[in-house]
Amino acid sequence: KVNILILSEKLMNVLLIGSGGREHAIAKKLIESPKLTKLYSIPGNPGISSISETIGTDLKIDSIVKLAKEKSVDLIFCGPEQPLVDGLSDLAEKKSGIKTFGPSKMGAALEGSKIFSKQFMSKYDIPTSDYKYFYNYDEAVSYFKRRKTYPVVIKADGLAAGKGVKIAKNREEADEIIKSYFIDKSLGKSGESIVIEEFLTGEEMSAIYITDGTTFLPLIAAKDYKKVYDDDKGENTGGMGAYAPHLAYTDELKKIIEDNIISKIKIGLKKEGIDYRGALYVGLMLTDEGPKVIEFNCRFGDPETQVILPLMDSDLLNIANLAAGKKLSGTTIKWKNSFAGCVVIASEGYPGDYKKGVNIEFSGNPFDFIHAGTKQVSDKIVTNGGRVLNAVSIGSSKSSALLSCYKLLEKVKFDGCFYRKDIGT
Ligand code: AMP
Ligand code: GLY
Repeated sequence: KVNILILSEKLMNVLLIGSGGREHAIAKKLIESPKLTKLYSIPGNPGISSISETIGTDLKIDSIVKLAKEKSVDLIFCGPEQPLVDGLSDLAEKKSGIKTFGPSKMGAALEGSKIFSKQFMSKYDIPTSDYKYFYNYDEAVSYFKRRKTYPVVIKADGLAAGKGVKIAKNREEADEIIKSYFIDKSLGKSGESIVIEEFLTGEEMSAIYITDGTTFLPLIAAKDYKKVYDDDKGENTGGMGAYAPHLAYTDELKKIIEDNIISKIKIGLKKEGIDYRGALYVGLMLTDEGPKVIEFNCRFGDPETQVILPLMDSDLLNIANLAAGKKLSGTTIKWKNSFAGCVVIASEGYPGDYKKGVNIEFSGNPFDFIHAGTKQVSDKIVTNGGRVLNAVSIGSSKSSALLSCYKLLEKVKFDGCFYRKDIGT
């Protein structure tokens, strides 16, 4: 009887989109699922390709949907934001009836346009910093002529791969930033409109939810280290390391976030008719006045995913499929009672310009690491990005998890490699 039950459950072909550490961590979790028949990937990396079949490199949405159809894919699992902002979910459903874990184009605009995201937050009374937005240079200049207080945060409206947020300490810096966006077009179309917002202080927390638009299942909250150097010095990056659970993530805080933020997001999505099935990343600042939203992302975090998924004791594929099918109600996620840590090893120069194609020397199994910016060239693995590899470990405490990460890092080196020595402190 049990066997018949298992056989009658539908098995799935899944197509994973993306090529970073986040997607390698997702791939590792998806292949644990008894519901998986075959995992395909586009464009993948050596880590992802070691556990899936990589079937293409083109991230244009019509090319993704065409390959998904050819391979009889049942579910597309989209790691990065760009294909979602381009409308991958809508196209896959409309053209081929294929479900996507990842929101519709309108839902993805919560990340794709900071102006839209701020307007959504104000309309539904979601706590965030005060803001203004500008569609042209002259209006922004005349605003800064009048503004008296600093610092102020200036954000490009569109996607900018982590490069669109600047903090101006005075009027001169603000003038320089708006000139670079509007006049020099340093971020192309993304910087042709901007948001200016009040600078918030407090500790940051990444609170990520899996949702079908109605039910929101919280993942364990994580702490991301955004600055490039120790002691939070230097420029912002995509993230240089992480741990989970975040030490500030108590049941009390969880309830405050649910009541003051998530319940309002739910109302907003419903009222605006936004089809949101996938991950919603809520970037929070824990201020003296309570948690405030810094940003929404329409996807999992990187490197947060690398510390969240190893703690998950439930079937990610099952949950993602229920979310994509609007059937999440009644589902819960089980978690291990442990800590996870991640340390990112990066290329010299990151987050600015860096070399690619540098040979990586491993003194053990290269797949003991999560691969982020790597590439296979004949029998060698070389660097192919700013964030190259992630050392990930779990342990009974935060410090034991991170100690294992740092031990693992002794087994890899390449010219110009560096990492933060203070993740978890
Ligand atoms: P975002 O892409 O909007 O998450 O911004 C990237 C980073 O800039 C955040 O993780 C914060 O560290 C910082 N940041 C963004 N907005 C603010 C703000 N209003 N006040 C202080 N820091 C901010
Ligand atoms: N680690 C920050 C992000 O994924 O946006």
